[in-house]
Amino acid sequence: MNPLSKFKAWFRLAKKEYPFDHTAFNLSTSINNKPYSRMVLLKKILPDGFIFFTNLNSNKGKQFKSNSNLSMCFYWDNLKKQIRIVGKGKICLEKESDEYFSSRLRGSQIGAWASKQSSLIKNRAFLIKKYKDYEKKFKNIPIPRPAYWVGIKITPIAYEFWEEGEFRLHKREYFYLKKNEWFRKILSP
Ligand SMILES: Cc1cc2nc3c(=O)[nH]c(=O)nc-3n(C[C@H](O)[C@H](O)[C@H](O)COP(=O)(O)O)c2cc1C
Repeated sequence: MNPLSKFKAWFRLAKKEYPFDHTAFNLSTSINNKPYSRMVLLKKILPDGFIFFTNLNSNKGKQFKSNSNLSMCFYWDNLKKQIRIVGKGKICLEKESDEYFSSRLRGSQIGAWASKQSSLIKNRAFLIKKYKDYEKKFKNIPIPRPAYWVGIKITPIAYEFWEEGEFRLHKREYFYLKKNEWFRKILSP
């Protein structure tokens, strides 16, 4: 049994509860034996992976370039459900990133140029000025995708589905890949 169908079923339930926020997940990266976590948005579910978009020059981008093992964690409190995924990240084809970038609001496209994500800035006025400068630069023309703004596809090697149970007897189902086949195990809460 491929756990992707279970993921999709829970994701659909979550969408009903949180029409936008259900896509938010915690993404963990690591570098030099130190872990780092932050929220990002899941933008595409494919048979072979989950895509989010980010700036490759950001801290997470640098961490990913040094170690492509990534971990994802979703929690939907109304459903009392958590999904954890471990996988390998890969930069998407340019076409994939171009397509998504061009679907974004113009303001967000300009923002992607203006913000050198994770770099230090003097103050907020500096950022707003950069935004205005790019707004002028791209006036009346389509905005190209910055080369550093990319999709990353995470191909899972393990999933864990967690559901709250009475008396803390939660349900934990663990799926892992072995020789291209998914295996299922039950874990103690
Ligand atoms: C709900 C939520 C969704 C976010 N979605 C994204 C996203 O899809 N991509 C992204 O690069 N940053 C996103 N962010 C911002 C990141 O959490 C983070 O602040 C930023 O990417 C810089 O992280 P870094 O310095 O570790 O690279 C989101 C933040 C929140 C709270």
